[in-house]
Amino acid sequence: MSSHDELEALRSDAPARIAAVASIEELSEVEAVTIGKRSPIAAGRRRLGSVDPERRRELGRSLNDIATELTVLIDARREELAAAEEESALAVDSVDVTLAGRPPRRGTHHIIQQVMDEVVDLFVAMGYGVATGPEAETEFYNFTALNFPYDHPTRLESDTLYLDYGDVPEEILLRTHTSPMQIRYMETHDPPVYLVVPGRVFRRDPVDSTHSPVFHQIEGLAVDTDITFGDLKGTLAHFAREFLGVDTQVKFIPHHFPFTEPSAEMHVHTNGRWMELLGCGMVNPAVFEAVGYDPDRLTGFAFGMGADRLAMARHGVTDLRHLFDPDIRILEQYR
Ligand code: PHE
Repeated sequence: MSSHDELEALRSDAPARIAAVASIEELSEVEAVTIGKRSPIAAGRRRLGSVDPERRRELGRSLNDIATELTVLIDARREELAAAEEESALAVDSVDVTLAGRPPRRGTHHIIQQVMDEVVDLFVAMGYGVATGPEAETEFYNFTALNFPYDHPTRLESDTLYLDYGDVPEEILLRTHTSPMQIRYMETHDPPVYLVVPGRVFRRDPVDSTHSPVFHQIEGLAVDTDITFGDLKGTLAHFAREFLGVDTQVKFIPHHFPFTEPSAEMHVHTNGRWMELLGCGMVNPAVFEAVGYDPDRLTGFAFGMGADRLAMARHGVTDLRHLFDPDIRILEQYR
């Protein structure tokens, strides 16, 4: 094939080949063999020097014309392919902004925590402050300062979980109630005192539907110059009606605690039956003496209620073990 025929062939074939390529990569290959280094055009240019001057001009011009024509076609095709590639990349990556989002799963506080927060809030609304204390306590704060005699049965290892700290001057135990905070608070604060203390407590009880070695209490303490048993009843009845409903009936049944005198249990009528909700009483003057308060000038009342029991009553939970089950689906029923 003469170089002239070759160029004419190129001129007529190349546009179809350029149009047929499916990718930018393929186009680069076609470019190399139509106008690039491996093309008849490059070969023609290399031959120009050996062509006689008359022919050279003409051949040079036609090489340039073809090269220009094909360059225009190649550039246009490259733009087309680039646009198509971008479009398909966008289609793959596309986000449908009109779709509804997937909301993240929302957690809640455990129902015991919810109940404790609510109880604390009700007392805060009556002017009480809030404190928390250590779960590992000394025998002094948990028992002795609260007027428990040395031979009181709950001090026994059969009831109380003692911690082994080796040779310590005083036994360390897991607090069996939140009452030690009465002592700790009065030791460090002057009267009057209006305080609630939510917290975790521990007793050596086997697990069953109503017992757990770990449970929760909210302690209350009010100390002032003329607090009466009427204040205790009024405050706790108000609390019960706020928490369980305005029609809630309450009753006080005589009881005994070493740190209150007189002492009582308050029962509430809820879900069609009476439930023991808390222990309470007037602060025993022996407790005031233990913390350096003047028992002739001050009176007060204290109470301790079970938060687990309140959560069960509120949510209709029939087995305490459900509250501590690690299967979250069980708790989710009680939202
Ligand atoms: N600490 C007592 C208990 O755990 C409850 C209580 C608290 C009773 C305060 C009277 C006053 O059973």
